[in-house]
Amino acid sequence: MSSPPKAGDPSTSKSASKVVAGAGAETSGEAGSDIIEAQISGYSEDDEFATEDWDDASSSASTSITSSIYAHIYENGRRFHKYKHGRYPVPNDDIEQNREDMKHAMIMEITDGQLFYSPIGDQPSKILDLGTGTGIWAIEVADKYPTAEVLGVDLSPIQPVWTPPNVKFIIDDCEEDEWLNGSHWDLVHLRSMSASIRDPDKLCRAAFEHLRPGGWMEWQEQHAWFQCDDGTMAPDDAASAFYELAQRAFAKLGFDGHLASRLRAPLEGAGFRNVQCVVKKVPVGPWARDRILRLAGLYLQTAIREFVPVVAGRPLQALGLSDAEREAWRATAVRALEDMRVHRYWNVYFWYGQKPPTEG
Ligand SMILES: C[S@@+](CC[C@H](N)C(=O)[O-])C[C@H]1O[C@@H](n2cnc3c(N)ncnc32)[C@H](O)[C@@H]1O
Repeated sequence: MSSPPKAGDPSTSKSASKVVAGAGAETSGEAGSDIIEAQISGYSEDDEFATEDWDDASSSASTSITSSIYAHIYENGRRFHKYKHGRYPVPNDDIEQNREDMKHAMIMEITDGQLFYSPIGDQPSKILDLGTGTGIWAIEVADKYPTAEVLGVDLSPIQPVWTPPNVKFIIDDCEEDEWLNGSHWDLVHLRSMSASIRDPDKLCRAAFEHLRPGGWMEWQEQHAWFQCDDGTMAPDDAASAFYELAQRAFAKLGFDGHLASRLRAPLEGAGFRNVQCVVKKVPVGPWARDRILRLAGLYLQTAIREFVPVVAGRPLQALGLSDAEREAWRATAVRALEDMRVHRYWNVYFWYGQKPPTEG
């Protein structure tokens, strides 16, 4: 029914080692404009970011707890959440947890360690993290803001047991009709939730209602869409073709894969004011000249490569692709992602808006 295209030949495009103008990767508009400068020498396998020594220890916990909310379901060798099974089409096993923590490291690199942009002051009281995952963001926020009570909510019981005393985790669906996540928050935060949230308008309205006046909502999201500024990505790029298919699959499952770039409307529609957006370009792979972007690029390339089999699982099944077709797409995409002559990047969006300080 569907087969992947042949990988584009980047050698027919502009040289990958061409130095392009502009060094930074941050813009404050809604689409990045600065061009990422590529490494002149190209990428070498002996690069300083060789991964052999990485610690692959898992951050998972709670496996001995027997309540059904803490149970998991296994499919095709991967583990999924059992509570509200099927709600989130992505595994919750060690591979996925490590991938999420690596994405966190990537974001810390590109933001210079800034956990959020919302100006909530130095002594916030209440911070909520919806879809907290391994809880890595919530834990770091709790460490940094000891005055704050931090709550992480997730469908999966994958958060560690040893945490700062001011962080707590609950297992729940953050899109429940009835909001069970408390109120008077200084900050409601979400990150990497575009493959999770079915009704962003409703969620923004619920967050607005349960923030304190003057509180902020911040939604950080990677736009899973390959871009290129220097002509090295061919029109028939195999990685792009795979993600076009992925976007169709996630749309079929009820999610908007382009939500990252479209969050102004749900935020403003819910009543948030002073809505701001920072966009950062992150190279896919260690091809940039800038060292921080090279490291961030390596993290992103690894995260995408490990996500390809996930997309080739349930999401592509939802499009009716056969096992052989899904395997062909997976293999072609992974191969394409290794080619550092192609200067792909993703935009990462940081949206934040304020509930007016006085209601009404
Ligand atoms: C891509 S991960 C992001 C994790 C975390 N926000 C981070 O950036 O490290 C998405 C997380 O959202 C959780 N999730 C998905 N749908 C959810 C829902 N309706 N309610 C609560 N959590 C949800 C998943 O279980 C998963 O842990």
